[in-house]
Amino acid sequence: MNREKVLVTDLTKSFGDLLVLDKISFNVAEGEFLVIVGPTGCGKTTFLNSLTKILDIDSGSILLDGVDVDPGKQNLAYILQEYSALPWLNVEQNIAYGLKIKGFNKELVAERVEEAISMVNLEKYRNYYPSELSASMLQRVVIARAFATKPDLLLMDEPYGQLDLNLKYKLEDELLSLWQKTGTTVIFITHNIEEAVYLSDRILVMTNKPTQVKTELINGLPRPRNVASKDFVDLRNQVTDLIKWW
Ligand SMILES: Nc1ncnc2c1ncn2[C@@H]1O[C@H](COP(=O)(O)OP(=O)(O)O)[C@@H](O)[C@H]1O
Ligand SMILES: [Mg+2]
Repeated sequence: MNREKVLVTDLTKSFGDLLVLDKISFNVAEGEFLVIVGPTGCGKTTFLNSLTKILDIDSGSILLDGVDVDPGKQNLAYILQEYSALPWLNVEQNIAYGLKIKGFNKELVAERVEEAISMVNLEKYRNYYPSELSASMLQRVVIARAFATKPDLLLMDEPYGQLDLNLKYKLEDELLSLWQKTGTTVIFITHNIEEAVYLSDRILVMTNKPTQVKTELINGLPRPRNVASKDFVDLRNQVTDLIKWW
């Protein structure tokens, strides 16, 4: 648990004259669930896009397992806010798709698909198409596709922002259960404080632009967490007080 998985050092990124990330530094331990909270526009998505090399950075470094992160060689899974299951593929094919584009051989694809389908309890729906599934099943397909590749690092960018509350809680619990089962290292982005306290081992609070890490909070609340418990509410209030985004 304490081995360093991700090391970000002095990461700087601007768009023209707009300085977004201003010498950001932090690390993530192997198996850790790190949540990053920050105001809209502070550069959370920019950070993930820098990590996955969708964007070039100005300066600084991002190491994964001790080497410069390389999505071509290392196995990153990225779940976006506008998550999508491919509409022309059924559940089984959607999960296999993530494995195929990573170049897994046929036998391994079949094996991992089975494992992932049963992890998210979609056995009965393996031949269904996205248009035939509920929002929660769709999200399970997306999560199964990510976990099936056994990623070195799972990145999630406000994945549950648009969902109704009950569904959100349910999906968060499923995510935590998969995370605990697999030991995957997760970086989860949100601007929802309650979600951050519910999910995290540690919370990074970001400032407004030009963005730096404002504070880091260890979240030692025992799991499973109760959002109504005094300790939970206290920590949530503590984070809320720290965030003076306005
Ligand atoms: N490709 C781009 N070109 C110019 N400005 C951008 C680009 N992408 C993001 N920005 C700007 O950078 C800032 C950070 O954006 P973003 O990373 O999407 O924030 P967040 O995900 O925290 O809401 C915003 O001010 C946004 O307008
Ligand atoms: Mg964003």
